[in-house]
Amino acid sequence: MSNDSFLLRHVHLATFVPELADYGLLPDAALWVQDGHIAWLGAEQDLPAGLPDCPEQDGQGAWLTPGLIDCHTHLVYGGNRAHEFELRLQGARYEEIARAGGGIRSTVQHTRAADEATLLQSALRRLDDLLAEGVTTVEIKSGYGLSRDDEARMLRVAGQLAQARAVSVQRTCLAAHALPPEFAGDADGYIDAICQWLPQWHAEGLVDAVDAFCENIGFSPAQTERLFQCAQQLGLPVKLHAEQLSNQGGAALVARYHGLSADHLEWLSASGIEAMAQQGTVAVLLPGAFYYLRETRLPPIDALRAAGVPMAVATDCNPGTSPMTSLLLALNMACTLFRLTPAEALAGATREAARALGLLHDRGTLEVGKRADLALWAIHHPRELVYTLGARPLLQRWVAGQAS
Ligand code: NIG
Ligand code: FE
Repeated sequence: MSNDSFLLRHVHLATFVPELADYGLLPDAALWVQDGHIAWLGAEQDLPAGLPDCPEQDGQGAWLTPGLIDCHTHLVYGGNRAHEFELRLQGARYEEIARAGGGIRSTVQHTRAADEATLLQSALRRLDDLLAEGVTTVEIKSGYGLSRDDEARMLRVAGQLAQARAVSVQRTCLAAHALPPEFAGDADGYIDAICQWLPQWHAEGLVDAVDAFCENIGFSPAQTERLFQCAQQLGLPVKLHAEQLSNQGGAALVARYHGLSADHLEWLSASGIEAMAQQGTVAVLLPGAFYYLRETRLPPIDALRAAGVPMAVATDCNPGTSPMTSLLLALNMACTLFRLTPAEALAGATREAARALGLLHDRGTLEVGKRADLALWAIHHPRELVYTLGARPLLQRWVAGQAS
């Protein structure tokens, strides 16, 4: 008998199946996993007789959700930027620090100087924080290497994390994050270089999606579009850091390229919302960066909701604008700062996060046929996951039916 088959009894389910609305509640339930996939779920009293013999676990009235998905992180990097935190407390602005050669470029220096083992070790500490809160899938971006070899190294380390821990890792190439010193004054030349490197990274199996930082201090919409064309030729999906510090029209651009998501969105316009709604582009909300940069302009949540744009929530874990390794804290912030409902926030770290990674067919809800990525919690209602700060109510986590 394989060890990824079991029957979990006496649990309450928050399925996040849209037909059931909000949390998709299914109280007093059981769930049967066979070969790493959900094979049956329903009311305990409807449990079919004659299920094949398999280990049984009594959930004792705990709550089961899909494993959480952190769909936007920069988890792999060298050094830290605690010094810039102090500078900003003395009044320096994020853009000023970036223009003076700090910011992303300072992390690039530290990342280039660190060997793979060091990068892996520091990223593992951050990853372990996420896993302790029930995360089973994490997206990890490159973007602090900014050369052919250093970007590849970051992506390789991201892959090694999935060997070292029970977690599934989606790798996003964010080479277009900042201009490396080798290309000073030549952003177009750097985009050309990325377009040359991308096929090789892709051939090595290092890339699941392509991202860029479309911003005054990043890359222009025209440069972003050229990158998207290269990605498209390779059949790679795109996503975008869009409208974080100014309105560049990035959300509409990524929607036009059938992108998976537009992320940040504090400066998103009405036409951007319309384009996203039309294409089903997910809005990835990153309240950690909003909080950390002390932004005052909110992403247009009511308009996104009214337009039916799916909303995900992620940590944006990165050394500069969101040194946060708690997805549950990001969910709380999405409610307190952005006024999401707790049900929307949790759907944003399960169903909608899966959608933002192009993985909704396989995970993100509790449904028959999906991978048994699960999290079991010592709570009385799923809203408690979002209500507390710093609690760690996780009892158990499964990835593809394997307990860990
Ligand atoms: O998602 N906006 C650009 N990228 C990161 C920040 C990276 C950094 O400052 O190191 C973000 O906020
Ligand atoms: Fe980011």
